[in-house]
Amino acid sequence: MKLNIGCISGDGIGPEIVAEARKILDKVALVYGHEITYTDILMGGASIDVHGVPLTEEAIQTAKASDAVLMGSIGGNTTTSPWYQLPPNLRPEAGLLALRKALNLFANLRPAILYDELADACPLKKEISSAGFDMIIMRELTGGLYFGERYTTEENGLRKAVDTLTYNENEIRRIAIKGFDIAMKRRKKVTSVDKANVLDSSRLWRKVVEEVAADYPEVTLEHMLVDNCAMQLVKDPAQFDVILTENMFGDILSDEASMVTGSIGMLASASLNDSKFGLYEPSHGSAPDIAGKGIANPIATILSAAMMLRFSFDLDREADAIENAVKNILKKGYRTVDIMSEGCTQVGCKEMGDLLADEIR
Ligand code: IPM
Ligand code: MG
Repeated sequence: MKLNIGCISGDGIGPEIVAEARKILDKVALVYGHEITYTDILMGGASIDVHGVPLTEEAIQTAKASDAVLMGSIGGNTTTSPWYQLPPNLRPEAGLLALRKALNLFANLRPAILYDELADACPLKKEISSAGFDMIIMRELTGGLYFGERYTTEENGLRKAVDTLTYNENEIRRIAIKGFDIAMKRRKKVTSVDKANVLDSSRLWRKVVEEVAADYPEVTLEHMLVDNCAMQLVKDPAQFDVILTENMFGDILSDEASMVTGSIGMLASASLNDSKFGLYEPSHGSAPDIAGKGIANPIATILSAAMMLRFSFDLDREADAIENAVKNILKKGYRTVDIMSEGCTQVGCKEMGDLLADEIR
């Protein structure tokens, strides 16, 4: 199969982790007889440094022309990096938001899994973590507060800022359908998270989710308020299968869920539209403090590449091979510093990539 992959290395540890993910993809291509072409795409700080803007029209077109996009991470230190002296619409993150919108990537899947081998890294009490957990957050990605009207003004000498949270029923329906579809392939439970005791947008969310649920009689639907969900994630994470939620709530809850695994360096993500196209990136950020030190954990990016093979190319066998390689390497006791524990062998970013590539035969 011919795979035409757009590649956003980005900022911070991005280039290091993407290099390892490409190493793994190349090994998969070799073993399973595929042909991969990568086209580099500048985004975030890397694009600002060259073009003065975090995303060019040309970059959007290159991404659109790819079958799928693999991304590292974007952004820098928000207090020290000159990128953050620029107006908000020219900062690195604006590039990512613009790309999500331009490609209509409305469905963001963020799995949070407690790996057996890494159970010790889980910051929860043993009596909670021993139940294990394996959830996926289905976050709406192109609506809500992130894309509503916003402005800052001054009225009678008083500074005022406005952000708007808007959803129409179509935007809610299409993400709900994605949520229920994925639940059907899992443990058939959807927890729809909202703030329906306060927000109109949440009350509409609840109604539309219930309408969609009617088409999925096998799936159990429950509603949960977002503040309660934040609490339940640390109290009883095993109760969750699919968490379905709007953009801002999903941003916050997905960070919490990943922290609860204790190994954010292991968590992949996919952002999908209505076609096979997707943008695949680790759930973690650009970690500017450790950039260039060769110690970053490339596994989240490598698992994102596996998600890409599965969702965009239907290459399940190849995706399995990558996921099994990760499990084997963990079993053999190799760890990057972020997931290091006693008795294990600590390796750097590149070494981890080499070890995983060797596992794919
Ligand atoms: C994420 C990030 C982004 C978001 C930032 C970088 C704009 O936090 O992907 O979760 O808020 O969506
Ligand atoms: Mg976030």
